[in-house]
Amino acid sequence: MRRRCPVVIDPAGTDIHAEGARIRANGSVSQVELPGGVLAWSVTGQQVARKVLSDQRFSKDPRKHWTDYLEGRIGQDFPLIGWVLMDNLTTAYGSDHSRLRKPCANAFTPRRVEALRPAVERAAVELLGELATVSPTESVDLKARYAHPLPSRVICDLFGVPEEDREEMLRGGEVNVDTRVSAEEAAANVERWHQQMLDFIEEKRRNPGPDLTSDLIAAQQAEGSRLTDSEMVGTLHIMLATGTEPVKNLIGNAVFALLTHPEQLDLVRSGRAGWDDVIQETLRMQAPVAHLPFRFAVEDVDIDGVTIRRGDPLLVNFAAIGRDPDVHGDTAAEFDITRADKEHLSFGHGVYRCIGQPLALREAEIALRMLFQRFPNLVLAVPPEEVTPQPTFIMNGLDTLPVLLKGRA
Ligand code: HEM
Repeated sequence: MRRRCPVVIDPAGTDIHAEGARIRANGSVSQVELPGGVLAWSVTGQQVARKVLSDQRFSKDPRKHWTDYLEGRIGQDFPLIGWVLMDNLTTAYGSDHSRLRKPCANAFTPRRVEALRPAVERAAVELLGELATVSPTESVDLKARYAHPLPSRVICDLFGVPEEDREEMLRGGEVNVDTRVSAEEAAANVERWHQQMLDFIEEKRRNPGPDLTSDLIAAQQAEGSRLTDSEMVGTLHIMLATGTEPVKNLIGNAVFALLTHPEQLDLVRSGRAGWDDVIQETLRMQAPVAHLPFRFAVEDVDIDGVTIRRGDPLLVNFAAIGRDPDVHGDTAAEFDITRADKEHLSFGHGVYRCIGQPLALREAEIALRMLFQRFPNLVLAVPPEEVTPQPTFIMNGLDTLPVLLKGRA
């Protein structure tokens, strides 16, 4: 078995791609040290990731399969404790996972998503209209004013979350991926969003509506998919969080890539490439979910020259996987929408594969197309190196995206 010094993960996510390259240099499955000094495995190779993601010898349930947690060595002082305490698809395994996935699995089929197109376009029109009131010479944060509110509006509408509660109910998902927060903050965050979601569900029980939360409540008691209240709350949390955070990253990362590669934007404008090329290349090169906790070996697993011991944690490094040089060669780190092979695993693979992929793709396509139609002279308001990443190693997005909407005056 290879023994190399584990790469210490930067909780601020200052440069996740340089970090990913260092992890890969130790092997496509190699050890990392997480905040709190916890050792885990990180998978950076695309081929081996496919195997891991479809291997039932990896569980996602820390409360059943993480030896150090079960034996008390991981406690409330672990900074990523939020990823242990959640009770939802993110922490479920086997029949529990199928039971939790069932009521959500068909919420975002391509047909249903097509029916959502007018709602997504309406949200885009409204947000772009609000942006149009900003002076062309004023720097505006496109993440706060467009990339975030577009998917959050859509998902909150779908789940019937009242306007006035949205900011609070989405905060739990944001804090959950902020890997700088202390263990106390992480645990308090779980408690806070748990209570918020519980109150919301109680309200929906009293006053059901034509929304997915009411559907979930109805499905709660259905044969074969009985969800506890804690699982309902966890499910709602993950749907609101995943419905917003990675989509926001995809839109923001794509806009940034295009503004820093104007010749590629021209290819789309002239019809020589499509929005789908931009979206797939952004997903590959800037995976919106970067380095995802957790999986646990349910028995000793030999993989790619290493043995992962039963009960040991593993993270899937989607950000590094999209840039695997064995698949994409020397140009893996370059943004090139004309690349023939844009293969990535950024929506996952196997039984945990993303439920929201059709929605995310539709939202990104509408968001980008309508943004560049409305503001064809969009430019960054600062030099690219001043656009900094969101402080997290779990997700891959921008902290802010300052732009001038109508070009330089
Ligand atoms: C660009 C946007 C998105 C990206 C990159 C993304 C990425 C992912 C990835 C990598 C996984 C697999 C996790 C694993 O293997 O452990 C996943 C799962 C999931 N995603 Fe997404 N996602 C996106 C958007 C969405 C949206 C819009 C929704 C729904 C509203 C959603 C809901 C989910 C759910 C519920 C799961 C858990 C599935 C399961 O465990 O069975 N995602 N996503």
